[in-house]
Amino acid sequence: MRKVTLETAAFVVPAPVILLSCVGADGSANIMGLAWAGVACATPPMVSVAIRPGRLSYDLIRESGEFVLNIPPASLLRAVDFCGMVSGRDVNKFIEARLTPMAGLKVRAPLIRECPVNLECVTRQSLVLGSHVLFLAEVVALHADEEVVEEGEVVVGRVAPLAYDPFGGDYWSLKEVVAHHGFSEGTMPGRAETGPATP
Ligand SMILES: Cc1cc2nc3c(=O)[nH]c(=O)nc-3n(C[C@H](O)[C@H](O)[C@H](O)COP(=O)(O)O)c2cc1C
Repeated sequence: MRKVTLETAAFVVPAPVILLSCVGADGSANIMGLAWAGVACATPPMVSVAIRPGRLSYDLIRESGEFVLNIPPASLLRAVDFCGMVSGRDVNKFIEARLTPMAGLKVRAPLIRECPVNLECVTRQSLVLGSHVLFLAEVVALHADEEVVEEGEVVVGRVAPLAYDPFGGDYWSLKEVVAHHGFSEGTMPGRAETGPATP
């Protein structure tokens, strides 16, 4: 198979679909759609989020040093798309998208009640990279709806998260588990020394 070389891009797909909620110094809360986010560290638990400085949410995160990452279920797709299309400078997205702000434990930014998983985050570092500023933030509290939790763990299948193609603009559902981590052990040469690897 021949390869074609394309224009360079940070083509890591799929991306998660997240609703980031934040609050300004005056107490006004906002929501933005977020796809360029990821796990940055396990201990302490840290995430990275890449945000364009033109966003209202960028200003609010700069002001407060905090935000909440909310994982929306597929049923909230219309609200997700809306929150990623319009700015909180023009509308109150909590009201227009019929999402409910809910007090967290550690940060002033509200959780979104309709999202089954919520990560309260405090910014520790930021890097100006170019079009986007990368915030590295510590997860200081993690919440989940009782219905998606079993034996202290979030069951991802019950959350029904979405995936996003930031280059093509398509939302994807995650419908099928194709294997469980470590399933290849013993079927290929070499031996896993400490069991299946985790990131
Ligand atoms: C699915 C999706 C993912 C997005 N991901 C990002 C992102 O990672 N970073 C970013 O700066 N903007 C992203 N956006 C765009 C912002 O959500 C959008 O510009 C929003 O209107 C900003 O709102 P605000 O001005 O109220 O902060 C995304 C939009 C969508 C629909």
